[in-house]
Amino acid sequence: MRTKLLVGNWKMNKTRAEALDFAKASIELLKFAQSKQIQIGVTPTYLSLDVVKHTNPNLIVGAQNVNAKESGAYTGEISIPMLKELGIEWSLVGHSERRTYYAETNHTCNEKVLALLANKMTPLYCVGETLGQFEAGLTKPIVEAQIREGLKGVSQEDARHLVIAYEPVWSIGTGKNASKEIAEDVCHFIRTILKDLFGGVSEKIQILYGGSVKPTNIKEYMAMPNIDGALVGGASLAVDSFAQLIENIG
Ligand code: PGA
Repeated sequence: MRTKLLVGNWKMNKTRAEALDFAKASIELLKFAQSKQIQIGVTPTYLSLDVVKHTNPNLIVGAQNVNAKESGAYTGEISIPMLKELGIEWSLVGHSERRTYYAETNHTCNEKVLALLANKMTPLYCVGETLGQFEAGLTKPIVEAQIREGLKGVSQEDARHLVIAYEPVWSIGTGKNASKEIAEDVCHFIRTILKDLFGGVSEKIQILYGGSVKPTNIKEYMAMPNIDGALVGGASLAVDSFAQLIENIG
């Protein structure tokens, strides 16, 4: 049995003061989630990582991005040692907004995944097709390339620390969520590729669905056998809504 996981991706939202307010409230949210055996986490902006982690050390707190290099002349970037110094052990990798607006590729994602794993951190690796690719029936080849190229060189041992999120780009922030059947079909497909790459470890890897997940629709996804949780943007920002996501996850 894989544990259910709910991660809120805050994107470029919340000042430090706002993040602190949420972090204080998250102490109760975490107790509620633990009572239901659900793991929860958030990915604040870099500036709020420390305030959230410090306020609720038991909450999963991840970065939204990281640079694969240790240090050097990379203006505007943040390295793994900098995250580790704050006690941060997770990072998103390859969110579609990073791929679209900041030219991230499967190759750069692969460098980040390998660097995080080498540092005993958890990459939450995001994959998903664009609307054009979906309409052209290319979902599976696109997702397969994202998985195989993004996870190239990951050992079976390290694969235990991976989390994958399937987020169709056309469903992110649009209110047009993928049906539970589409989401399950792709998450199942991802698991077959993971099995090919990592054998039995594939059964332990959590695969999340993301894209316009709301308190009103989270339950239907969670009923699917290969969907182990959700990566949630808009509906993760307010404490009440986050609590309802936990309530309805199962
Ligand atoms: P959304 O974002 O829930 O607002 O669609 C999901 C995501 O980008 O992870």
